[in-house]
Amino acid sequence: MSARSIGADVDSVGRRDRPLAVTVDGTSVAGVHGQTLATVLLADGRSHWRTGPDGGSRGVFCGIGVCFDCVATVNGIPDVRLCRRPAQDGDRVTTQNRSAAQ
Ligand code: FES
Repeated sequence: MSARSIGADVDSVGRRDRPLAVTVDGTSVAGVHGQTLATVLLADGRSHWRTGPDGGSRGVFCGIGVCFDCVATVNGIPDVRLCRRPAQDGDRVTTQNRSAAQ
């Protein structure tokens, strides 16, 4: 273990992860407060959650809110950038598909 890697169980400041749960297309996904919705999905093993007009898979590209590759519908609001949106317990994420085939 490096000097910079401090486990939550030995954090001298007493920080503790506060768990949360969101749903992605109806499936429950666990996260912790402080994560963005994109990091919750990435930590769940999802590399993409949208299909672009060319049929390609889209997820996080820039990670700083510039490219809009990471958009999804959150609590009924479309085109939310998941890399900028702090995850909140109970958020409902719905993936988007803008494939030209539709
Ligand atoms: S990854 Fe580029 S805006 Fe979210």
